[in-house]
Amino acid sequence: MTKEALLQAAKEGMKKSYSPYSNFSVGAALLTKDGKVFTGCNIENASYGAAICAERTAMVKAISEGYQEFEKIAIVCSNGTFAYPCGICRQFISEFMLDGTVIIEDKNEGIREIPVKDLLPEAFTRKDLING
Ligand code: THU
Repeated sequence: MTKEALLQAAKEGMKKSYSPYSNFSVGAALLTKDGKVFTGCNIENASYGAAICAERTAMVKAISEGYQEFEKIAIVCSNGTFAYPCGICRQFISEFMLDGTVIIEDKNEGIREIPVKDLLPEAFTRKDLING
């Protein structure tokens, strides 16, 4: 699947955003290693801290359907600027696709494809939990 097609899927996902508090819509499209796409959007809450980001929505949907191996995640936001993932999402993404990439797009600057390892250098992973 092309970067453009995955970004388009993320834009479709963004249409479902529930973001009445920030008015900032985010969409994500997650590509599994076997070619399936799961979309997600941000979902806010009157208790602001209960909001979930689009990236984690997409990942939770995929994982709960039995998929754990991912290649790429495209992320878009309503500003049309680069939708870099937040810190919590970088950690969450790293758990399942440390060797994958993040695809983002800016309306003026074009598309960037960034290795997950570059977004969260020296990531804390399950390997760090092994004693000794
Ligand atoms: N948001 C995401 O969906 N993904 C990110 O990586 C950053 C932030 C959402 C959460 C909230 O609904 C809105 O953007 C403003 O923070």
